[in-house]
Amino acid sequence: MPLSLRNKKIIISAGASGIGWATAKVCLSKGAIVYICDIDKKLLIKTNKHPLTNKRLFSYLCDASDENEVSNFFNQINKKTKKIDALINNVGIAGPTGTIEKLNSDDWEQTLKVNVISHFYFTKLAIPMLKKNKGGSIISISSGAGIMGFPLRSPYAASKWAVIGLTKTLAMELGKFKIRANAICPGTIKGDRMVRVIRDKSKFLKVSKKIIEKEFVSMASMNCWIYEEDIGNICSFLISKEGERISGQAIPVDGNATRMD
Ligand SMILES: NC(=O)c1ccc[n+]([C@@H]2O[C@H](COP(=O)([O-])OP(=O)(O)OC[C@H]3O[C@@H](n4cnc5c(N)ncnc54)[C@H](O)[C@@H]3O)[C@@H](O)[C@H]2O)c1
Repeated sequence: MPLSLRNKKIIISAGASGIGWATAKVCLSKGAIVYICDIDKKLLIKTNKHPLTNKRLFSYLCDASDENEVSNFFNQINKKTKKIDALINNVGIAGPTGTIEKLNSDDWEQTLKVNVISHFYFTKLAIPMLKKNKGGSIISISSGAGIMGFPLRSPYAASKWAVIGLTKTLAMELGKFKIRANAICPGTIKGDRMVRVIRDKSKFLKVSKKIIEKEFVSMASMNCWIYEEDIGNICSFLISKEGERISGQAIPVDGNATRMD
C-alpha cells in the first residue's frame, strides 16, 4: 500500500504526548518527516526512543506561548528545510475550572496565550514555508468547546471559538496560495488530560469522579470515548492528497457530541 504522507514535512506544536504525539506517530507511520516541539524535556527524550522515529522525527524544547522560543524552533527547522507541507497547531491547555466570578484574570490570560496567541506565532512563521512549498495545510486543534458553550471552562471555550475564527479567516486569506486551513473539534479524549479535567470538575462540584466521567462520555450520542489516534487519522487525511480541496472547516470528531454540560 502506498504511504499517503511519503516525505511530507509536518510541524506539530506540543507534540511529545497526548493528541500531538499520537498524530506524530500516525504521520510517521505514513512516511512523513515530523518536527515536534514541547515544553516537557523528559517527554521529548522519550519520543526520540520510539521505534517509529527512524531519523524522521526531530524534536525540540520550546514553550509554545513564548514568541522568541517559537522563533528559535523555526530557526532550527529552517536549517533542515525551507519548505513544509503542514503545520498542526495542537498546543492548548485546559485552563482553570470554575464559574466566572471564581476565576482570576491571570488564568484567563494564560489560557488565551497558550491556546490562541501561540497559534498566531506558529502560523505566521509557517506561512512562508508553506508558500515556498506552493501549498499545504494548516490544522488547528479546537474542541467541542469551540462550537458549544462549556460551563465552568469559560476561558477554554473562548480560546477554542477563537481558534475557529482564526481558521476561517486564514482559509480565506491563503486559499489563493493553495494553503488550506481547517480546525478539528475533538470530543472527550481517553487520556491523561481528561483524567485531570475530571478530577478538577469533581473537586469543584463535589461530585464523584465516576459520575463526572459518565457524564462526559454521555455527551456523545455514541456514548463513547474518542481516541487520540482518531485525531491523528483526520489530520493525516487533511494533509494527504485525498483532503486537498477541504478548507475553512471546523470538523468535529466527537461521536456526535450534543452538549457539554
Ligand atoms: N484531551 C481532550 O479531551 C481534548 C478535547 C478537545 C480538544 N483538545 C485539544 O487538543 C490539544 C491537545 O490536547 P491533549 O489532551 O493532547 O493535551 P495534553 O494536556 O495531554 O498536553 C499535550 C502536550 O502539551 C505540552 N504543552 C503544554 N503546554 C505547552 C507549551 N506552553 N508549549 C509547548 N508544549 C506544551 C505538554 O507538555 C504535553 O506534552 C489541545 O489543544 C487541547 O485543548 C483535547
